[in-house]
This record gives sequence, structure tokens and C-alpha cells, in this order.
Amino acid sequence: MNGEFEWNEIAFDVAKDVEKVVMPIFGTPKAGENIGKNVSGDVTKYVDKVAENLVIERLKPLGINIVSEEIGNIDVGSDYTAVIDPIDGSYNFAAGIPIFAFSLAVFKKKAPVYGAIYEFVTGNFYEGIPGEGAFMNGRPIHVKKVEHGKEAISFYTRGRCTGLIKKVKRVRVLGAIAVELTYLAKGALDGVLDIRNYVRTTDIAAGVVIAKEAGAMVTDERGKELRLNLNATDQTNIIAVNDSRLLDLILREIGRGE
Ligand code: IPD
Ligand code: CA
Repeated sequence: MNGEFEWNEIAFDVAKDVEKVVMPIFGTPKAGENIGKNVSGDVTKYVDKVAENLVIERLKPLGINIVSEEIGNIDVGSDYTAVIDPIDGSYNFAAGIPIFAFSLAVFKKKAPVYGAIYEFVTGNFYEGIPGEGAFMNGRPIHVKKVEHGKEAISFYTRGRCTGLIKKVKRVRVLGAIAVELTYLAKGALDGVLDIRNYVRTTDIAAGVVIAKEAGAMVTDERGKELRLNLNATDQTNIIAVNDSRLLDLILREIGRGE
């Protein structure tokens, strides 16, 4: 698959190795210990670093570029770039909330060629392969057809455009956007929105590949196709939905700015 690398095997093996080192400290104070700052100036927790060290050690021998949440960019001049969040949802992890995942996307030059998210607690392994589809544990997954008036969305707002909350039936904010994008992809959520200008490529790159391949529309806050820069610091908004009417409703609410 995808030329010289078997990305699905690499992603699965690395995710299982991360699982072995992190799961013994799930929900422990040690996992949440603050051990410094990452390239964006955010706190690095012990679990973030343990997971990242392992991922870098495993990927470095491949000779590809790496963009990872804590360490930032390692550019070795390869055509391939792996964009990683070793643990998405590290607050959840340290607090003992079982919603967190390993996330890895691969780009050839600037184009995505593969995305994988491994949810440690359920053991579900999600993949997106541009042009081929989205899969959970090897079986195809699709967004669901929205039933208007019954929408369930994840909405990170920080007080912006909260009028939208009254226009949908359910709001679930789960604290691990990579996982939430897989839930959109498999039809468990109708939309995943973050309009805090806060998420980074590392948080969402794999989830975007998977959600799009499952049929989702993924845009910026103006409804334009979302473009991701391959670095660990730029922050963005994201609107990912299963249906153009829901997208229109969201864009109208955001346009009102309340
Ligand atoms: C966080 C989660 C969360 C999102 C934050 C991210 P992290 O990732 O994805 O859902 O709201 O923006 O930083 O820091 O736990 O890897
Ligand atoms: Ca993380």
C-alpha cells in the first residue's frame, strides 16, 4: 500500500506498543504529572512524553519526516511526513476517563495518504485511505444520514455562537477530538466542531482523513475546505459534519456571531 511503506501495519504496531507502555498508568497521578512545555507552550504530561518517546524511536528508522505534538517537527527531507498525536485526550487519560486515542496521519508531500486512530480502551482501530474509504477494524464505515431535529454534535465553543446549542438535539463534548472524528465517521455523532481557534494539525489530521473517507464534509469556519499546515503549532477551527443542511445551519449560526 502507498509505495514503499505498509502504513497500516506500521500504525497498528506502533499503537499497540504505545498501549503497552501507557495503559499501566491510566488514571494515575503519575500520568498527569507536568514535566515541562511542548513546542506550542502547552503543558506536557508524563504520559504524553512516554508515548511520544516510544513513537519517535519506532518511526525514526523509517527515515520520514515527523510532526509530533510535544517535540514539533523533525525534517529529514523525506517526501513522507507522519503527523502524530501519541495520546489525544491526555486530560481524560490522566483523570481516568476512558476516551483517548493514538492518532497518526501520513502525508506524501502535502497530500494525505493515510490516517489511523487507535482507541485503546475499546480496541477499535480506525483507518482512512484517500480514494479507498474508511474502516473500523478492517470493515467499511460511513457517516450516518442525519435525521433533522435529532442531531448529536460535539461542540467546542468557549462561549462563541452558543445559540447553536438550542438548534440541535444533543451536544456531547468528549475531550478527545481524534476519537470524536471517528465517531462522526462511524455514524455515532452528526458533527464535530471546534471554533476556539485552538486545535492543531496533530490533533485532527488522522481524524480528518478518516471522517472524509467515511463521507463527512470538513471545513473551516467559513465553510471552505479545511487546509492543514504540516506543523505542530498552527491552530485552527474545524467543522466536520455528515450533511450539507447541518453545515448550512452551523454556518448560519456562526455568521450571526452570537
Ligand atoms: C486535546 C483534545 C481535545 C481538544 C484539545 C486537544 P490533547 O488533545 O483533542 O478534545 O479540545 O484541543 O488539545 O492535548 O489531549 O492531545
Ligand atoms: Ca496529545
